Amino acid sequence: MALGSAPAKIILFGEHAVVHGIPALAAPVSTLRARAEAVPAAHPGVRIYAPGFADSLPADLDSNVVDNALAMIVRLVLREFDLTAPALDIHLQSDIPVASGMGSGAAVAAAIARALCESVGQAIDAETLNRLVYEVEKLHHGTPSGIDNTVIVYEKPVFFIKGEGPKPFTVGKPFQLVIGDTGNPSSTRAAVAAVWALYDQDRVGVKDRFEAIRQLVLSARSYIESGTPDSLGGLMTENHALLRELTVSSAELDRLVDAALQAGASGAKLSGGGRGGIMIALVNDATRDRVAKALQDAGAARVVTTEIR
Ligand code: MEV
Repeated sequence: MALGSAPAKIILFGEHAVVHGIPALAAPVSTLRARAEAVPAAHPGVRIYAPGFADSLPADLDSNVVDNALAMIVRLVLREFDLTAPALDIHLQSDIPVASGMGSGAAVAAAIARALCESVGQAIDAETLNRLVYEVEKLHHGTPSGIDNTVIVYEKPVFFIKGEGPKPFTVGKPFQLVIGDTGNPSSTRAAVAAVWALYDQDRVGVKDRFEAIRQLVLSARSYIESGTPDSLGGLMTENHALLRELTVSSAELDRLVDAALQAGASGAKLSGGGRGGIMIALVNDATRDRVAKALQDAGAARVVTTEIR
């Protein structure tokens, strides 16, 4: 039996703008994971079993299933290393809510790739895995920046610029976030496309907002590195306002952000693709439980606390 796993992620600052070349900050959420278990099978080829699929999904090279992300990562790995499809069942399980802005697609692909490589004794380095998972992200997202696959594969906080390699950065002092899930799945592909459409309509206005986001990201990075995360709150709330103007918030996200702020969070924003999915709120020991309860009372489908370190 071979195991592979990968974490969820949150974008701390800079989502959407990062697709257009602005830096962004993201961190893994190691307590929420996708896990793949590969076991030798009696049938030829690879089959993937995932909750939610009525049947197993053939994922071998001869399969005609080409537009499925789970099958796609298997094909990419086999092609990369010039491997014949082994006789394998891959069982997939994930704690990461799908279409929630937490990188489920990238985490699932990374977990499958790791289990597959492990089962055939093929080493795969992070750079190669990151490149293959990015290919799968294109299927999910259309024009992904690459931030999700990077933070998930390297499992470290990253300062990320599209087209450049991962730049891990130091967290000077750990800080806590409460994650509130609206429970509304949302398509990152559609949200990214909407920002492109807005950009085509109003280049100056959208560029101004991207530049404002750049400044927030740079300030946030220096607060995080210098161990003064308490100063991040205002930047988060400002980033949320800019994302609203870019049309990627939603009534539910705004409600959760407001509830967190009223309950004492020092800042809050949507995180990821938006228009549903999750938001994050900056808390400390004194405010954490109150904010978590306020999010539940405001209708969050799920509330999780995480520490960025
Ligand atoms: C999604 O987690 C982050 C977005 O910026 C899309 C991307 O960077 O590919 C919305």
